[in-house]
Amino acid sequence: MKTYKIALLPGDGIGRDVTAAAWAVLEKAARLNGFSLDATSYPWSCDYYLENGSMMPADGIEILRSFDAILLGAVGWPRKVPDSVSLHGLLLPIRKAFVQYANIRPHRLLPGVQGPLRSDGFNILCIRENTEGEYSGAGGRVHQGTDNEVAVETSIFTRKGVERILRFGFEQARARRGKLASVTKSNAQKYSMVFWDEITQRLSAEYPDVEVTSYHIDAMAARMVMAPDSLDVVVASNLFGDILTDLGAAIQGGLGFAASANINPDRSAPSMFEPVHGSAPDIADLGIANPIAAIWSGAMMLEHLGEPAAAARVMASIEATTARGIGSIPGKDKTDAITASVLSALG
Ligand code: NAD
Ligand code: IPM
Ligand code: MN
Repeated sequence: MKTYKIALLPGDGIGRDVTAAAWAVLEKAARLNGFSLDATSYPWSCDYYLENGSMMPADGIEILRSFDAILLGAVGWPRKVPDSVSLHGLLLPIRKAFVQYANIRPHRLLPGVQGPLRSDGFNILCIRENTEGEYSGAGGRVHQGTDNEVAVETSIFTRKGVERILRFGFEQARARRGKLASVTKSNAQKYSMVFWDEITQRLSAEYPDVEVTSYHIDAMAARMVMAPDSLDVVVASNLFGDILTDLGAAIQGGLGFAASANINPDRSAPSMFEPVHGSAPDIADLGIANPIAAIWSGAMMLEHLGEPAAAARVMASIEATTARGIGSIPGKDKTDAITASVLSALG
């Protein structure tokens, strides 16, 4: 029987609950589809940091490299460890080290879910650049604590990095409805974003079958709320994509519905699958986290592993669950009840 080796990183807060839920569903889906998933779970988290002084061991990246994929819950517990320490100690280095440059985040309403817009006519695929841009970590502070203090955070956009994410976006658009929205702020940011627009323009000649439109990030935020049905594939930089995908989560009914795949398209290292949301300290330990985003992310993992039938089975079970009104209204159903419903819908 084919077996895939999966590294589980439940992380902090509700990350633990939703990863357990996703794992139960994925294991059963694998069994029903004639393959198996072999999990190794690592406790790397803010608690781990408090005990060991780092978010993961020094060879953490090398440990993860041997897996077929990584399933992550959420990282961050700001009351114990500053976010700038925890995220730069675990989540962000994995995305960079494994060149997971394409972050795919789908936004659509599941059956029975009422988003704030009450519109079921949209199906947006956000493609977020995931390894450079505003998250490059280049910068510093001088004259700290004085009136003359200056803080600099430099965004780094490379031709290679911008070209590959735009090409990825064009290819996704080509495989869907043929529309690509490229997001910048080139009216104000005259180096990096003009550079991005120029590359978009140049690549568009290679994809005559794709209708490409450049939008400014502010106008795109309004469009996603006012006319989400006018969008197909949306490609954006690291920070802009981060913000737009929480907005995307909101229009699809809440953070608990938004899935995400950090993809290494060359398959030179493992890809990582995780919900868009964080550790949700405000609801951790209440047993009410919506596991659907994590389960959906798991379906994206199965698709990536080359098991599309199992992925489709998981998606159909999520949809059967929300269509029955279970998990469709944020906060109404417990994590366990939603998970049990998805599990029984699997067959
Ligand atoms: P968050 O996404 O954790 O929570 C935002 C709001 O959405 C909260 O009100 C929360 O209760 C709600 N929410 C989130 N997921 C939910 C779910 N599955 N079901 C129901 N409600 C849900 O964002 P935050 O509060 O800004 O961040 C909390 C911590 O998580 C911080 O440390 C942050 O840095 C971290 N974070 C990590 C990731 C990640 O690991 N990928 C993503 C985002 C935030
Ligand atoms: C996400 C998260 C992360 C990001 C944070 C926790 C660093 O918000 O995955 O969307 O900004 O990438
Ligand atoms: Mn985010």
